[in-house]
Amino acid sequence: MRAGIVSRQAHADIPPGTYEREVGREGFGGPATHFYHRHAPTAWLRWEGPHRPRAYDLNGVLDGSGPGMHCPLDAPLVASNAHMRLRCWKPRTQMHHLARNADGDELMFVHEGGGHLYCDYGHLLLRDGDYVVIPRGTAWRFEPTSTSFLLLLEATGDSFQLPDRGLLGEHALFDQGVLDVPQLDDEFQAQQQAAGSGREWAVRIQARHRMSTLIYPHNPLDAVGWKGTLAPVRLNWRDIRPILSARYHVPPTAHTTFVTQRMAVCTFCPRPVESDPGALKVPFFHSNDDCDELLFLHAGQFFSRDGMGPGMLTFHPAGFPHGPHPAAYQASLTKPRTELHEVAINIDTRDPLDIAPGMDSCERQGHADSWKGYLDTDSQARQEVAA
Ligand SMILES: [Fe+2]
Repeated sequence: MRAGIVSRQAHADIPPGTYEREVGREGFGGPATHFYHRHAPTAWLRWEGPHRPRAYDLNGVLDGSGPGMHCPLDAPLVASNAHMRLRCWKPRTQMHHLARNADGDELMFVHEGGGHLYCDYGHLLLRDGDYVVIPRGTAWRFEPTSTSFLLLLEATGDSFQLPDRGLLGEHALFDQGVLDVPQLDDEFQAQQQAAGSGREWAVRIQARHRMSTLIYPHNPLDAVGWKGTLAPVRLNWRDIRPILSARYHVPPTAHTTFVTQRMAVCTFCPRPVESDPGALKVPFFHSNDDCDELLFLHAGQFFSRDGMGPGMLTFHPAGFPHGPHPAAYQASLTKPRTELHEVAINIDTRDPLDIAPGMDSCERQGHADSWKGYLDTDSQARQEVAA
C-alpha cells in the first residue's frame, strides 16, 4: 500500500525536503509504515501533559554512601512495570551478606568500576562494560575494587535468553564461546575459608518483592563442584561484533543482546557509519507504538542526541514520535561522521513503564523541548538536501 511521494527503500534516498517517520508494531519487527513529512515530526511548539519524553542524569542518583547501596536488593529504583525493574546501584564497600532475587533473573551491567562477584557457582572478576545474567534464585555478593556504578535489570517472573539470530547464524553478534561462567578458582576457595571463622552469614531474599533473611552459621557459598545447563554468564560489549550495512541503517533490534517474554535489551557498540550517499546515517524518526524505550549511555557522546553524556538515561514512551536531535540530524546531512565510538544500552518494554518517584531529583528538565531546533532549521536543512 502506498500513496503520494515516497522512497522505494526505507531509510534511504529520502525524498528531498522531507523527514521520514516510521510507525511500527512489535518493536521494529512487525508491520510498519513510513511517512514522508514536510516538517520534522518532533518540531512541536510545546508539549502539554505529564506523560512525555524525559531525560535523567543517573550520575546524580545517590552516591555510595546513601541508603540502599549496601545491598543490591535495596538499590534505588529507576523504572518498573509488572515484568521488569531497573535499579541503579553504586556500591562502595564489599557486601558482608548474600543477596538472592527470587522474583526473576537479574541482568547486571557494570557501567563504572568492577570487582569480584562471588555466587553459588563460583567467582567472576568484573570490569566496566560487563553484562552478567544472574539466574533467579542465585545467591551472590559483590566486592567492588574501585568506585562502581552498576545497573540491575530484573526480569520479573521471567528469564533472560539470547535472541534468535535467524539467517545470520548462531555465531553472529557474538559467538557463545565468549560467554564466561563463574569458576571455582583460588579466590572462591579463599572466600570459603570465611566459613571456618564461625561468623554468621545472612542471605537476604527478595520474593514477591518482599524481603526475608536466612541466617546461616557458615558461608553458604561452599560448593565444591557443580554441573548443569543453568549458570550465570558474563558478556562484555567489547566481544559484540555489531551487524551493520554500508547501505542501510539497520534498526535497533538488529543489536538485540538479551530478550525476555516482554522486554529486549540491545547494545549499540562502536561501528562504521553507513557510507552509501543515500543511506540515512542517524536513526529515523519513529513511534515504536508497542514499546516504551529506555536508552542508557555507557560511553561517548550519543550520535543522535545533543548533549547526552555517559550515565544519562532517556525515557521515550510509546505513543509519541522521537528521533535524532536537530544538530545531530543536520550534521548527518552535511558532514556525517564516519565512525561511531559510543556504547549505549537500549531497553524496549512491551508494557508501559512507571518512572520511580525518586527520579525527579535527577531529571534533566526540558527534554520534551529538546527538538525545538527543528523549528528554525528544517527549512534550511531541506534546502541543503535539495542542493
Ligand atoms: Fe527509539
